[in-house]
Amino acid sequence: MRALSTFVVRCTTPEERRAGSRVPIRAMRWLTWLTAPHIMLELRRIERAVDTLVADHRSGRIARKDNLLGLLMDARDPETGHAYSDTEIHDELMTFIGAGMETSATALTWTWKLLAEHPEARARMRDELRDVLGDRTPVAADVDKLVWTKAVLAESMRLYPPIIGLTRVAKGHDVLAGYRIEPGTTVVISLHGVHHNASVWDDPERFDPARHLPENLTTERRHGSLAFSAGKRICIAQNFAIMEMALSLAVLAQRAGSGDRGADQAGAVVHRRPGRAGPDDGDAAHLSGLRRADR
Ligand code: HEM
Repeated sequence: MRALSTFVVRCTTPEERRAGSRVPIRAMRWLTWLTAPHIMLELRRIERAVDTLVADHRSGRIARKDNLLGLLMDARDPETGHAYSDTEIHDELMTFIGAGMETSATALTWTWKLLAEHPEARARMRDELRDVLGDRTPVAADVDKLVWTKAVLAESMRLYPPIIGLTRVAKGHDVLAGYRIEPGTTVVISLHGVHHNASVWDDPERFDPARHLPENLTTERRHGSLAFSAGKRICIAQNFAIMEMALSLAVLAQRAGSGDRGADQAGAVVHRRPGRAGPDDGDAAHLSGLRRADR
């Protein structure tokens, strides 16, 4: 163990060590180049696109300022007047892309799988959408009223948290579940474990969105559901993510039609793009309205 941690620390760059990081980011990048070069090529493509975007904003080729990039460029430290460098802006944007895409996509994928397996939950969502929206397309202001739809999302993220664990570095001495924690220790919190704690969630493997309805949300349950983390480093986009996912669910469910189809027919049609990770065509489930819209 000691040898492993020495190796890990040696693999970190001086900047990483100065920042107190024990995660050898540069070494991990090289390892990924060796084992999965196609992923690194895709990552490089995204990084180049981000750099082009930053350069286009700097040069005035893109004049719009009412977006995240504009905000980052105009931001100044109130004490020092320091503005973000291009590298810092690049890193912030990559964090947003990384933190914001796969998380919501994963949550929605599990949610559709669960809805496909639970026709009663699907029917209740269809009724709610009909009552709140009728035939019109949902807008952000509707989301507060989509109480069941949001409960479905919350239950899906309880069962399958898109981020499986959090880490925190202990500031002082502590005792956790009988273990002594020394200052500087990295503590890993398993969200899957927290979300499947039977003393908070009875029958934790059961899909039951009603647990998250406002009248059933006890303080214990609020604290026992940490998909977006908690405290100072809580997901900066929690409300945006819930809104984006609820709207996406609502629109797709409207297009899916009656919702009375069997579990095997309630998901979207998913086609594998050559060379990409994803389900095989053979796994594709069908959703009539979506098939048409896909073409
Ligand atoms: C289902 C959707 C999402 C889930 C489950 C999720 C979850 C999380 C979690 C657990 C953290 C905290 C990590 C920690 O405490 O160490 C986090 C942080 C963050 N999330 Fe999300 N997130 C989601 C969507 C998004 C979206 C859509 C965006 C951006 C548009 C986003 C941007 C961020 C950023 C920038 C941070 C870092 C905040 C900081 O360090 O202060 N997330 N997210």
